[in-house]
Amino acid sequence: MRTPLIAGNWKMNLLRAEASALTEAIVTTTSQTNGVEVLLCPPFVLLDTVRAAIGDSDVELGAQHLYSEPSGAYTGEISATMLVDAGCKFVVIGHSERRQFFGETDASVRHKIKAALDAGLTPVVCVGETLEEREDGSTPKVIERQVSVALERFKPEEVAKMVIAYEPVWAIGTGKTATPETAQEVHAFIRNLISKSVDKQVAKGIRIIYGGSMKAANADELLAQTDIDGGLIGGASLKAEEFSAIIKAAS
Ligand code: PGA
Repeated sequence: MRTPLIAGNWKMNLLRAEASALTEAIVTTTSQTNGVEVLLCPPFVLLDTVRAAIGDSDVELGAQHLYSEPSGAYTGEISATMLVDAGCKFVVIGHSERRQFFGETDASVRHKIKAALDAGLTPVVCVGETLEEREDGSTPKVIERQVSVALERFKPEEVAKMVIAYEPVWAIGTGKTATPETAQEVHAFIRNLISKSVDKQVAKGIRIIYGGSMKAANADELLAQTDIDGGLIGGASLKAEEFSAIIKAAS
């Protein structure tokens, strides 16, 4: 059985007081729900604040990004060990906004996955097609390339430690969610790809979560799909009520 993962990607939002209040509300929700892993990914400067508000609850802490080198002259960057030191267990890698605005490539994604695994972090590896790619029918080709390059050269036991997030770019922050059937189709495709190229058992156990305008109103039907093991939630993760409702839908 794959434990559902509900992850909040706060992106570049919130100040300390808001972050504390939101985390406290989510901690209260998780104390009333079972069988769901809940993860918060605030901006770097809020990691300490969120960690303090998480306290000894089961809510997990993660970052939205990292750099692949362990230390050195890389102004502005944050390493995997720094994230571990800050209390992170997870890190989002290759989000489409990083690919689109900050030059992240399939190859840099792979280097970052390696750095995360070496430090003991769980990478949440994001893949997804743009609207143009969806419309010209190249979704399977794009997903196959992104997944294969990201996972290239990793051993099955390493892949088993990852989480994959399918985030169709056209659904992120647009209010346009993939239909449960469309999302399920791609999730099954990714699982099948991992089964063929990595290992059958690893494919069965790996969590593939969905992201792109997931909210309280559509979480139930998305999470009901066989191959959807949770969500990576942007906008709706900034509202305690919405995010709590998604956690409840997963439990
Ligand atoms: P959204 O973002 O829920 O606001 O669409 C999801 C994401 O980018 O992870």
